[in-house]
Amino acid sequence: MRKVCIAGNWKMNMGPQEGAKFVKELAEAVKDASARVVVAPPFVTLSGVVAATKGTNIEVAAQNMSDHLKGAFTGEVSAEMLKEVGVKLVILGHSERRTLYQESDEFINAKVKLALEEGLEVILCVGETLDEREKGQLEAVLKHQVVEGLRGVTPQQMDSIIVAYEPVWAIGTGKTATPDDANQAHALIRGEVATLFGKSVAESLIIQYGGSVKPSNVKELMAMEHIDGALVGGASLTVEQFAPIVCYNN
Ligand code: 13P
Repeated sequence: MRKVCIAGNWKMNMGPQEGAKFVKELAEAVKDASARVVVAPPFVTLSGVVAATKGTNIEVAAQNMSDHLKGAFTGEVSAEMLKEVGVKLVILGHSERRTLYQESDEFINAKVKLALEEGLEVILCVGETLDEREKGQLEAVLKHQVVEGLRGVTPQQMDSIIVAYEPVWAIGTGKTATPDDANQAHALIRGEVATLFGKSVAESLIIQYGGSVKPSNVKELMAMEHIDGALVGGASLTVEQFAPIVCYNN
């Protein structure tokens, strides 16, 4: 049985004070959730959120990290620094980083391997653009991102990998992939992971769906065979919306 994992990607929202206040309220609202609960605040908000979630069922992720361990890399934050503040997971390869900051598969892969070596869990984001989908390239794009993103990762390390399928055209647009479309993409990803790492690794892999997940559509998405969680953007910014998503089956 795969344990559902619902994560909130705050993107560039909520400073330290607002973030700490928010998770205190959230903790009360999601304390009985059967799903794993993760929030991913901006870097400067991380330590306050870690402190405010002590003793709760909320885990804390970063939204990015450096591909280097330390040194002259102005503006970067290392895996060790994240661990020191109590971060357990890191989101890598988000489409906003791929497109707005030109992050390549190779660069993302370097960060994936470093995060795993440093003992962080990784949420690796993959997903096609509308143009790619319309050109019939869905399978090729997902395969490429999965193969390149996980290059050099060992089957044992796959325990610390979550894949998030986020069709770029569904992010922040209000357009959600239909549950069937999303499930089909998740099945492709699971199939590719089976080819790379074997069936049992693929069967236990958590694959989240991301892209306009809301309280109103979470249930039907989570009911699909290959959808094991959600990576939520906009709707993770209020307790009113995020708590019912996390507690969708309570
Ligand atoms: P939205 O839920 O706002 O569409 O964002 C999804 C996302 O990018 C999560 O990482």
